Amino acid sequence: MLLPRFLLVVLSYLAFAAFTPAPTTVEAPLSVVQPRLEYKTNPTGIDVPAPRFSWRLEGEGRDRVQSAYRIEVDNGWDSGKVASNATNQIAYAGPALRSATPYRWRVRVWDGADQPSAWTDWQTFSTGLLHFSDWRGKFISHAVGYDTTDKYGELYLPPARYLRKSFTASKPIQRAVAYTTALGLYELRLNGEKVGEQSFLPGWTDYNKRLYYQTFDVTDRLQQGENVIGATIADGWYAGYIGYALLVRLDRVREFYGVNPSFMGQLHIEYTDGTTEIIASDNSWRGSTGPTLEADILMGETYDARLARTGWDRAGYDASDWAAAKLYTYPEGRLQAYPGTYVEDLERLTPVVVTEPKPGVYVFDLGKNVAGVAELTIQAAAGTQVQLKFGELLREDGTVMTENLRRARATDTYIASGQGTEVWRPKFTYHGFQYVEVTGLDAAPTAEAITGIAMSSIDMEASTFDAANPMNEQLYRNILTTQASNFFEVPTDCPQRDERLGWTGDAQIYARSATYNADVAAFFTKYIIDLDDAQRWYGAYPNFAPFPYSRPDQYAPAWMDAGVILPYTAYRVYNDTRIVDYAWAGMTRFMEFQADAAGDDYLRPGGGNNWGDWLNVGEKTSDGFIGAAYYGYDAALMTEMATALGKLEEAGHYAALFDSIKVAFAREYIQPDGRTTEDLQTTYALALYFDLYPEKLAAAGAARLAELIEANGDKFTTGFLGTKHVMLVLSDYGYDDLAYRLFQQTDYPSWGYSVANGSTSIWERWNSYTKDDESNAEVNAAMNSFSHYAFGSVAEWMFQHGLGIDTDGPGYRNIIIRPAVSREMDRMAGSYESINGTIRSAWAYRDGGLHVDVTIPVNTTAAIYLPGTEDAQILDGEEVIDTDYADGRHLVRVGSGSYQFTVGSIQ
Ligand code: BGC
Repeated sequence: MLLPRFLLVVLSYLAFAAFTPAPTTVEAPLSVVQPRLEYKTNPTGIDVPAPRFSWRLEGEGRDRVQSAYRIEVDNGWDSGKVASNATNQIAYAGPALRSATPYRWRVRVWDGADQPSAWTDWQTFSTGLLHFSDWRGKFISHAVGYDTTDKYGELYLPPARYLRKSFTASKPIQRAVAYTTALGLYELRLNGEKVGEQSFLPGWTDYNKRLYYQTFDVTDRLQQGENVIGATIADGWYAGYIGYALLVRLDRVREFYGVNPSFMGQLHIEYTDGTTEIIASDNSWRGSTGPTLEADILMGETYDARLARTGWDRAGYDASDWAAAKLYTYPEGRLQAYPGTYVEDLERLTPVVVTEPKPGVYVFDLGKNVAGVAELTIQAAAGTQVQLKFGELLREDGTVMTENLRRARATDTYIASGQGTEVWRPKFTYHGFQYVEVTGLDAAPTAEAITGIAMSSIDMEASTFDAANPMNEQLYRNILTTQASNFFEVPTDCPQRDERLGWTGDAQIYARSATYNADVAAFFTKYIIDLDDAQRWYGAYPNFAPFPYSRPDQYAPAWMDAGVILPYTAYRVYNDTRIVDYAWAGMTRFMEFQADAAGDDYLRPGGGNNWGDWLNVGEKTSDGFIGAAYYGYDAALMTEMATALGKLEEAGHYAALFDSIKVAFAREYIQPDGRTTEDLQTTYALALYFDLYPEKLAAAGAARLAELIEANGDKFTTGFLGTKHVMLVLSDYGYDDLAYRLFQQTDYPSWGYSVANGSTSIWERWNSYTKDDESNAEVNAAMNSFSHYAFGSVAEWMFQHGLGIDTDGPGYRNIIIRPAVSREMDRMAGSYESINGTIRSAWAYRDGGLHVDVTIPVNTTAAIYLPGTEDAQILDGEEVIDTDYADGRHLVRVGSGSYQFTVGSIQ
């Protein structure tokens, strides 16, 4: 049905009037949800001078905007009504925040019709110890001897140390806050219980540069009369085994930052009568060993329940046989509040099946490959020694495969006390596993004996994804599983073998994917600081961060570039210029390092470790090509970040640098017919994605990429670097159908191949395991992880192209919806929790038309690109709308709200 022209004009006027706030709106006021400070809800221990507020908005109808906001802090600061649509990165601008002080704040907003929202409830935050002079605690520990082992021959696994202090709170308590940390790992105890939900405190940093502390409000945990504060401490990253040091026989295999773990902290008590008291760690505390005989983050934990010092962290315990705590020093670094998100329990997993492949060997299958620990529940005679081994796969004989763990012992041992039902989980170790092999029990266990506890630093709640092909839905679940397992204090390459390092190449390739699946704003903030701390003195960012080893030459093209790509991603996705500003000096040093290496010809050569297009399938892109391409990409990102920071001169410098690199790159690597000199999939993918192609030749380059893939049977030859860029470039250049064929491919190498072979996680290699292949045993003993997120970097394409959700400029203020619609897939639907709220996109071929449903959050706009012929009628619901048209797409510009578009006719 054709509508009269004048009606179209009226409708199109209505569609385009979308953004201008309509002053006569009678919609209900907006509501402010998720008020946060520094990306956190009611945080404690803030130590930045101008913490940033953010919130999201909800509201009925369409085209809803925020025209103003007002923030009040209960110290008297009132922003007043600020005419602004900003809802995040709004810095506190009141009087200097006081140390160790609780604050409350609230916010309200006004909509486009100047209707005020309600105030939010009062939110809370507290400050940490802002001045060095606020610290009273000393670093304390309990001496347990030292390592005299042959470092490559046997493991040195010292016991955990226990520290306690009994004190009397003589008056009614108003408020009590603990500020605590450790060199090593610690668990804080107060009156018999653990304080906080977090694990692996205080987190991993370059301890020589900074140490994070935690702030716990423990008001409800303190009692008038005797109280006991205590800590259990262990080596952790500070003094324990890290990574592959043992495997490759580095000069050091443990004790990378120090020898003795130690605890430091203080408890501030405010009494109702206005007086205060500080209980600080010092040599009046008492120290001892206890039941935790071994506690290494990589090797595992051993606990002898017979040695439990029952009641040690409660009032009334006799600690007369404990020694006075020993004092230690912490000479170098800074003490700071933790900027990231802590490791916490994510999910409890009950076994799906228990088998007994050999007499007395019980294997618990938890159904999912996770990072975390197992909780053991048993009844056994005193002295029964139960051993738990962890692995990702089973051997032919049904026992747990441990060959691919290399030198990670990944074994926990529990020695029963013999007293009733005993429940135990380790505190200072974790494993990457799906299976737990239990030996040493005197009777067959019930399924309840083992509960898997998946742990992670992040909640995987930012996205949903449905597709016509169930294999791709499985792939999506595998990506989420593997991201959760590896976003564990730092973005690790894998959680199981003797590695677990914050590999920079993996992190940069996956960074944007990570943001679609989870809110990683704070997690990446912390990792960017790790990257900055780990920067080599000569300017390169290293292979992984933190970087505990003393090897000087550990950097590589596409790995070191994480130092630029991560801050850029934080800016792009979260509108975070503060972290960019923080990293700026380091990034400029890195650019100088590259400029030196490139010399006069602007071609950064390979260098360092040259990992290349890691794990490619038979096609080696040259190191020089990768080095030069990433240098160009960095220059472009630096230009954009400089502009965002208002550093216009530097923006000009980097823009010119990019132009020079582009010219040099094309001269060296791109031939007049549009082919790269190396003519490999990854070369096209990188050069095109990084905009290094001369404009005239780009289409020819993309066509050649498509041709190569088709000639290869719609399959990749790429590795970590090439794979995601192939997908992005195919869609950028109009080859969506081919991208979908790759996406749905089930022959090796492909995601579908892993899924067809039973993957429930992302594997390090497409063929980490093959159902019918005899060579598995061989592959498995070598470098082979079943929880390696790098190839999951296709999530970026799934969201940015499949669903078509992207941001125009920083922070999803102006959203792009441009789904890669294809008959190869038929339908796709999903959502993304952006910093401004939920964005939904769904498309399907149905009833002879293409249906595209979109939801855009309040206070944002979207440019929606709908594919179709120029004469195709576009409806929003029942209404025909007018659109712009270019490059095979209709463009609809909208404000917030939900839209149901139909392209073409409906019956
Ligand atoms: C890690 C990778 C990493 C690589 C460097 C491996 O051992 O697991 O993911 O990027 O080394 O090539």
